[in-house]
Amino acid sequence: MKDIVLSGIRPTGNLHLGNYYGAVRSFVKMQEEYQCYFFIADWHSLTTHPTPENIQRSARTILAEYLACGIDPEKATIYIQSDVPETIELYLYLNMNTYIGELGRVTTFKEKARQQPDNVNAGLFTYPTLMAADILQHRAKWVPVGKDQEQNMEMARKCARRFNNIYKTELFPEPQNYYFGGDALKVPGLDGSGKMGKSDGNCIYLCDEEKVVRKKVMRAVTDNGPETPNSPKPEVIQNLFTMMSIVSEPETVAFFDEKWNDCSLRYGDMKKQLAEDMVKTLNPIRERIQEFSSNTELLDRIAKMGAEKARESAAATLREVRKTIGFRVY
Ligand code: ADP
Ligand code: TRP
Repeated sequence: MKDIVLSGIRPTGNLHLGNYYGAVRSFVKMQEEYQCYFFIADWHSLTTHPTPENIQRSARTILAEYLACGIDPEKATIYIQSDVPETIELYLYLNMNTYIGELGRVTTFKEKARQQPDNVNAGLFTYPTLMAADILQHRAKWVPVGKDQEQNMEMARKCARRFNNIYKTELFPEPQNYYFGGDALKVPGLDGSGKMGKSDGNCIYLCDEEKVVRKKVMRAVTDNGPETPNSPKPEVIQNLFTMMSIVSEPETVAFFDEKWNDCSLRYGDMKKQLAEDMVKTLNPIRERIQEFSSNTELLDRIAKMGAEKARESAAATLREVRKTIGFRVY
């Protein structure tokens, strides 16, 4: 039997290059070899209270973007989290074995609680157990996510381990992070910040028009330029090189690296090349996003098909879980 893979992204906006290189690119690769479940985490997005219209639209947006990146509904199961109510039952059981002390120590919780002090809700607090339920309901072994999800993954492993220990079972495998090429990758932001995320001036979306991509890259934060030969690169410049090593050929990176080292690097030239290489990757994806977005009938059909397959897998696990806990199995 093939190993099971699961991952998801919250529908809180369009996908950007960080999401693509940190997660979605792995999805596309893994669907060839594993039994894959890729979903849209719309329940998780409720922590910030989106409107019903927003919910509807944003789930479809991510679905179209998943497909445009190359996730194939014939190879992988693609579904929307809220279409699989079995998840919630498992979430409840896992919450009974998870302690408020450990949930309170999760950095993303502490950060969000600081950012939105008027909305520190219980859903935000138990975010990691819902994520664990997403994963464990399919008994997934591999979870392709970016490095920022490591702590949530540790909680998911804890949930699996604890359930197995309490009930003397081996029902849940401990899920492992999967990184494309073996190493965790963090795509830097264009504003000099360490991480590309959904904020203005920092991020390139997969759906950005060619001229928008070029404009954003040309505006990326830099400094006054190299002054001493072979000096270490300051963070903002290292970020530019990291981005280039992700989207460009190694020879291109080596070319500009040499220019940095002999102090002849002109950031304008480097950015032009970087934009060129990004556009090459993004153009076909953007065109497919447009095609899929306009075909709502196809999107609905794919979501329905995915939901059926995901429910079947989750229901099989839940039957085992109920039996193990001592509940009636129907
Ligand atoms: P955002 O930070 O834009 O809100 P999410 O937190 O929704 O993105 O992340 C969705 C997925 O994309 C996760 O697997 C996350 O690890 C990955 N990811 C997001 N930003 C980056 C980045 N800059 N580099 C690498 N992976 C990323
Ligand atoms: N927490 C993930 C994020 O913010 C989204 C997510 C929810 C997820 N459930 C998951 C990722 C299960 C992997 C597996 O990006």
